Amino acid sequence: MELDGLDPNRIPRHVACVMDGNGRWATKQGLPRTEGHRAGEEALFDTTCGALELGIPFFTVYAFSTENWRRPHEEVRFLLSVIADQLLTRRRDELHQMGVCIRFIGRRDWRVPRWVVKRMDEASALTAHNRAMTLTVAFNYGGRAEIVDAVKAVVASGVSPAKIDERTIHRYLYAPDLPDPDLVIRTSGEFRVSNFLLWELAYSELVFTDVLWPDFRREHLVEAIREFQARNRRYGTTGGRGDGIPN
Ligand code: FPP
Repeated sequence: MELDGLDPNRIPRHVACVMDGNGRWATKQGLPRTEGHRAGEEALFDTTCGALELGIPFFTVYAFSTENWRRPHEEVRFLLSVIADQLLTRRRDELHQMGVCIRFIGRRDWRVPRWVVKRMDEASALTAHNRAMTLTVAFNYGGRAEIVDAVKAVVASGVSPAKIDERTIHRYLYAPDLPDPDLVIRTSGEFRVSNFLLWELAYSELVFTDVLWPDFRREHLVEAIREFQARNRRYGTTGGRGDGIPN
């Protein structure tokens, strides 16, 4: 992998990715949209390997949003099968061997088929103790839903309103032990956050690329990190450490 121009001491700790453009990629090739998702899975695997090579400890991807259920039934079924059959079955053992811990964030409501939940739990259990990298898959995930779920849990805990602060909310997010993303990448030339990690990306650097997700490879990840390293993160202050890593 070409690392030219990257400062190895300023590799982001947590990179998150909105994998967008599968449908357009397929249409451009004259293929059904589902083929875009299949190719997207390849792109995800290659990028995950790249993240691992770069020594990024936390990599998070948006695989399926709470709104994606509104897509045609066939496409939803295909997406579920790519996630459950490819990622959580075929890739699972490879990722396990590479020391990747697989986790999920999102709602486990009635819409998620039992067999998918089972595969998610099996993959998480198998890889729970891996330390090389944590791959977090946002599935049936919505940023607002996550905040609503956290607020419900805070209320249910019985804490007095006067004691609620940002740390209280943070404690009840889906994965409170993950650091906030340093860098969020969105592919396919769209400039939106689309309900992804709304709480967590308060101070993240956002990098947008025209590359459609199925064409995204580890080299594009390097490119995005290069852009990240060229920025000066201030966290609302005037200076900051200037090294791109939170204090
Ligand atoms: C957006 O493309 C992408 C998704 C809806 C989900 C991302 C899914 C994958 C990359 C498939 C594999 C995932 C895993 C976790 C194995 P789009 O269909 O919205 O594209 P469009 O905007 O061009 O229509």
